[in-house]
Amino acid sequence: MVTFRCHGCGAEVDAAQRLPFRCPNAGAAGDDVDHVLVVETEAAPPPIGPEADPFLRYRAWLSPYRLARAAGLPESAWGDLVGELDRALTAIDGRGFRITPMAERRELADALGRSGALWVKDETGNVSGSHKARHLMGVMLYLRVLKAARLPAGEGLHARRLAIASCGNAALAAAVIARAADWPLDVFIPPDADATVKARLNDLGAAITICDRLAGEVGDPCYLRFRDAVAAGALPFGVQGTDNGLAIEGGRTLAFEMAEEFSRIGAVPDAMFVQVGGGALASALAQGLAIARTNGLIPSLPKLIAVQTAGCAPLARAWERLAGIDLDAAAKTRSRFMWAWEATPASLAHGILDDETYDWWAIAEGMRASGGSTVVVDEAQVAAAHAAGRRYTDIAASATGTAGLAGVIAKPEAGRNIAVIFSGVER
Ligand SMILES: Cc1ncc(COP(=O)(O)O)c(C=O)c1O
Repeated sequence: MVTFRCHGCGAEVDAAQRLPFRCPNAGAAGDDVDHVLVVETEAAPPPIGPEADPFLRYRAWLSPYRLARAAGLPESAWGDLVGELDRALTAIDGRGFRITPMAERRELADALGRSGALWVKDETGNVSGSHKARHLMGVMLYLRVLKAARLPAGEGLHARRLAIASCGNAALAAAVIARAADWPLDVFIPPDADATVKARLNDLGAAITICDRLAGEVGDPCYLRFRDAVAAGALPFGVQGTDNGLAIEGGRTLAFEMAEEFSRIGAVPDAMFVQVGGGALASALAQGLAIARTNGLIPSLPKLIAVQTAGCAPLARAWERLAGIDLDAAAKTRSRFMWAWEATPASLAHGILDDETYDWWAIAEGMRASGGSTVVVDEAQVAAAHAAGRRYTDIAASATGTAGLAGVIAKPEAGRNIAVIFSGVER
């Protein structure tokens, strides 16, 4: 059985019987619990395959694979599901999922005056140009397993469209994967969304809804329209754990790849700096690294340092308030720690301006477990990191995608050997 458990209320969902997306207890009036469904991990360390596709290589680490096997599908069925999507992704986006490169960047380290190692994991060449596709591939594989194994949770899936609220890398990732799976997708975007992104979404066949703010409405209109669509039957195909806990899991493959590479070179960085918007990326890394350590891939955890900009730092605000507080108790009093950033934010790193860090709790857990912290960067540091990334590496990452490096500039004392993730190709 593959079970998901809500880290806030403890509700359990059997992924064969019911979609493990939003916690069944979320949304009750007056409820202050942080509801996110998290898959229960295997007791025994699962094997790692020889394949270069992370969804094959780490299949035994992933719940959709475990579900497929528990439901009686043969081993070859997983390869067929991944392979079919891989061929479609290659046709649509020119590439499927492969282990992305990670290398020590001496020139960049020198330019920043750092004597230790600086490892950069490059996600700009990943499917759709960012790591976001990993999150959604995990969800799509789950949907495909439900269909293939004719599980009760998959009843009526055909008639349901996918939905996402985003106008950036997540929307592009969703559109590429939805297209590869030939599954209709609704994307809810703001009136000022980037024209290039809009054009690509159109090319990919996504149905775009422009969301104006309705009179008297509080909160992000795109997110509100997305929630309406989900309430009307759409499947949440975004990367926020609160709406789809399963989405976090695919992102763990990034941590598994990094852990395996660190194991191969026999080093673990002192700290890993991660740019944080909605928090799915850092949450997936925290969980993935913890699993990698439990499974013996790495001997210790790098300090997880969550990077936000001064324009919008709800996680840093929560982290300060969490000092000395039990995390389980915090998950039951969410509003004391996490609420929407009041000011309208602006930053060169505009992809991490989510007004809430939806997946704050798992990041806080990861920072606690590793001795990490948050760091808030100013615009000069965001710009300096972007310029250095472009100048001293051959990676064309956006300012959002190099914002982790801005954290290294802001907090040089975090450790000697450092890792960052460059993601989100400059468009
Ligand atoms: C390139 C890039 N890096 C990092 C992030 C942050 O991810 P998350 O929203 O999961 O915190 C984003 C989010 O849009 C992104 O586009």
